[in-house]
Amino acid sequence: MDDFRGRLTKDGIRIHNPEDSAGMYKAGALTARILDDIAAMVEPGVTTAAIDSEIERMVNEAGATSATIGYKGYQHASCISVNHVVCHGIPGSKVLKNGDILNIDVTTIVDGWFGDSSRMYVAGKLGRKAERLIQVTHDALFMGIEAVKPGNTFGDIGHAIQSYAESQRMSVVRDFCGHGLGTVFHAPPNVLHYGRAGTGPVLEEGMFFTIEPMINLGRPETKVLADDWTAVTRDKSLSAQFEHSIGVTADGFEIFTLSPSGKFHPTYS
Ligand code: MF3
Ligand code: CO
Ligand code: CO
Repeated sequence: MDDFRGRLTKDGIRIHNPEDSAGMYKAGALTARILDDIAAMVEPGVTTAAIDSEIERMVNEAGATSATIGYKGYQHASCISVNHVVCHGIPGSKVLKNGDILNIDVTTIVDGWFGDSSRMYVAGKLGRKAERLIQVTHDALFMGIEAVKPGNTFGDIGHAIQSYAESQRMSVVRDFCGHGLGTVFHAPPNVLHYGRAGTGPVLEEGMFFTIEPMINLGRPETKVLADDWTAVTRDKSLSAQFEHSIGVTADGFEIFTLSPSGKFHPTYS
């Protein structure tokens, strides 16, 4: 399998070796465990900065590195995106209140491999509309993942996500996308969460990338706040996101960031 090593497709997508999956599973497992363990802290009254500090502590305790601290000037171990924040919410003095929904996005580096995942959490009691948004977003991610197998295209992934989300009268954010990863954080291709079946690069065994759809209850447009990071829905509607790091296998997919305790979905009571 040595001929796999370091090969780039014509679209610049790295084809990894079979043994590289082990590195991705290690990093992915740490990220997933941190996302599991932080759930206990998400309650009304807690600040997003306190949650982020605990995530940073857990990354350090594991002897790993945060991929986000120092990334393009970002200074935190997580992004915490509350309610109408679409992504890249900066942890800070914001206090969670009852009914808030939030995405926590963590990327760790273990032995040089990147594990990138995010999930939704709820502070206190989950409202009906928010619950439906979270369920649809979660299911849309998995419909995208189910489209991952050699011979399918990236457009098939986007199409699966978009057609499901829109069938539920929700919208797919266009301004942010998933990405290749491995020994780097963000690599080709851009993994769009919308698109036409059969378009885009063909999936090949050994590709590693994220799928991380952001779905809005209202319109898809976003804007970035003056802090240059925080992306919000223009119409202030609620937004949700789930993210897994994925590999293409000989006959389908592998998920590097699966929850060790089955807690990926927030309503895991
Ligand atoms: N983890 C995010 C992603 O899914 C990237 C965050 S970059 C940061 O790609 F600088 F905002 F942290
Ligand atoms: Co990502
Ligand atoms: Co992420």
